[in-house]
Amino acid sequence: MRLSRQGESLIVHTPAKLNLTLKVLGKRPDGFHDLETLMVSIGLYDTLRFTPRSDSELSLRPVGTGRLSSDIPFDDTNLIVRAARLLQEHTGRRFGVNIRLDKRIPSQAGLGGGSSDAAATLAALNTFWKLGLPVEDLHPLAARLGSDVNFFLDSPSAAICTGRGERVRPIRMRQPLHFVVIKPATGLSTGKVFQSLLKSPEESRLFPDSMVDSLEQAPFAMISRLIRNDLESAGRSLNPDVDRILESLTRDEIPAAMTGSGSACFGLCQTDRQARTLAARCRACSGDEVFAVRSAA
Ligand code: C5P
Repeated sequence: MRLSRQGESLIVHTPAKLNLTLKVLGKRPDGFHDLETLMVSIGLYDTLRFTPRSDSELSLRPVGTGRLSSDIPFDDTNLIVRAARLLQEHTGRRFGVNIRLDKRIPSQAGLGGGSSDAAATLAALNTFWKLGLPVEDLHPLAARLGSDVNFFLDSPSAAICTGRGERVRPIRMRQPLHFVVIKPATGLSTGKVFQSLLKSPEESRLFPDSMVDSLEQAPFAMISRLIRNDLESAGRSLNPDVDRILESLTRDEIPAAMTGSGSACFGLCQTDRQARTLAARCRACSGDEVFAVRSAA
């Protein structure tokens, strides 16, 4: 996440994520699932602009009238508004703000766009409203907003996340990774995917402490071997586009998986050039949205 000032405005560029591995460890009494997931931030960003207002109202509006903006609600259910209200409640301060959202991260995709916007709002308003909260105070608020919000709040380039996803252990991969990311026109609901989970949970983790070093030193080799997503078979059976995209990446012998609860999928490429060539080919033969991106180094 990058914050910058422009006159009276505060601008935040906040990234999407990919789950390179996602293992479901078990169902908890609160209905959530315990996970272990390796997440990376990627070079695909939403931009939020915060400007002052003299009353205590919160206003959220899209920049432009693009299709991505029409896919999401701009009312009180939006995670950006919920994050701002949570900060007002937590501090008892009722400042107002105008927020403009330039949406580039597709929603219902498993790319974490809504969570990333929520984390950006917590971090930005803490600065913009001069609240001075330490990041430890923002973490419990982030966890209340969604399982992935803590990852974006910490802004690591990569992390192993556990619990329901909110416990974040940053890791430093030595090389950036290159991906093609494909989002079909159809989406998937996170709740429905978890409900349709086909596989029985396992206790053992993919990344015990002894493996983290190898992951940091040789990320491509490790991930091309370990790439997996336990939610994928549910995603494939709920949405035939997910099945189609993964079949096509596998035919090209690209290590591939669905990200999070879908419906976007990604292929791990050897180079930036391979990612761009593959992206151009995928764009030419489908109505999917296709991005060639790299992870933060
Ligand atoms: O926390 P988030 O808003 O991403 O979760 C959406 C839904 O996905 C939850 O209501 C829950 O049904 C499911 N979920 C889960 N286990 C997780 C994360 C999400 O069962 N670790």
